[in-house]
Amino acid sequence: METTMKALTPPMGWNSWNRFLDVNHRADFEATTEEAVLEQARALVDSGLAAAGYQYVVMDDCYQSFRRDYRGRLVGHPHRFKSGIKYLADEIHSLGLKFGLYAVPGTQTCAQQYFDYHGLDLGSLNHERDDAQAFAEWGVDYLKYDWCRAHINDGLSAPEAFKKMADELAAVAPHIVYSISEYGLFESHLWAPEFANLWRTTDDLLPHWNSVMRTLDQQVELHPYSKPGHWNDPDMLQIGNGTLTKAENRSHMFLWAILNAPLMAGNDLTRMSDEVLDLLKHPGVIAIDQDWGGSQGRLVHDLDGVQIWQKPMSTGGVAGVLLNRNDSVEHFDLLAKYSEFDSVVDVWSGESIDGASVGLDAHDSIMFTAK
Ligand code: GLA
Repeated sequence: METTMKALTPPMGWNSWNRFLDVNHRADFEATTEEAVLEQARALVDSGLAAAGYQYVVMDDCYQSFRRDYRGRLVGHPHRFKSGIKYLADEIHSLGLKFGLYAVPGTQTCAQQYFDYHGLDLGSLNHERDDAQAFAEWGVDYLKYDWCRAHINDGLSAPEAFKKMADELAAVAPHIVYSISEYGLFESHLWAPEFANLWRTTDDLLPHWNSVMRTLDQQVELHPYSKPGHWNDPDMLQIGNGTLTKAENRSHMFLWAILNAPLMAGNDLTRMSDEVLDLLKHPGVIAIDQDWGGSQGRLVHDLDGVQIWQKPMSTGGVAGVLLNRNDSVEHFDLLAKYSEFDSVVDVWSGESIDGASVGLDAHDSIMFTAK
């Protein structure tokens, strides 16, 4: 199956899930409404993030009605999505954006299982053809297909279950970017590139430093598997959420960019600080995320809590992130490490690094290019 014409660079956008969680990181069904999603879509445009490349508005779990309609079709919740999913897609398209939606290969979505939320039939199991057709009719541009209720998955293995939907999409809506998620349980990097544009490599990323570092550690050795049209997905951004500090947000953004990760913002775009906005839309950082120089970033230095993640750039030279994982200030002689290059530039400030050693606050990073 030919999927290489889609997602030639890592997809960028906003996803509702991290935003519409309650304080215990659990799904908040009431918060997921058509007006709330549209408010975020408008903010994506008004903030300049859309112009910076954030194109997709992905509505994650919790939009569904309690049960399918009389024809067995998936429908939006009647109170919270009064105008229907197609209306929402049309509105998002009229803003110049693209529309993404969530579904699962089992019988229940992930949020349903936590809440024991009504019927058993909201997943796409044995509805793959009808659901793919509905996505096509609604104008869906991006599908997040999430491995939920795996144990009631009709005996299909994960590759089979995900491929089944891929085949249906290929038949009726081949333009849909196909994002799969099995939390890295079944080594999807080995088989997903055949039919998916991106695959999750880990469990959910939570908005605190330990989770960011744990997720990062799970990306080691995954660099051979991504390429244009097919990306490792270390999960959606938590920048601006939870307990992440300024330094931690910055490290999170720089690291996801060096990994060529999909950049799906998950914060409240109507209320973000300038600091968060500046980080999400920094052109130099985004350019590195979107650049394909032959490999995503990999770990090239790891000593005493200081790491360097590095990738080749299509324009020559390399881009890297110097990360301080420690709780105290660290100094590192970056120029000595990159002495074979003519210049080393701090991507954030645009200035050359010429001091003998750079200082990094706890959990902070420097993103640099060396040429
Ligand atoms: C899982 C996924 C999340 C989100 C929720 C929705 O936890 O990993 O990204 O889609 O399901 O219920």
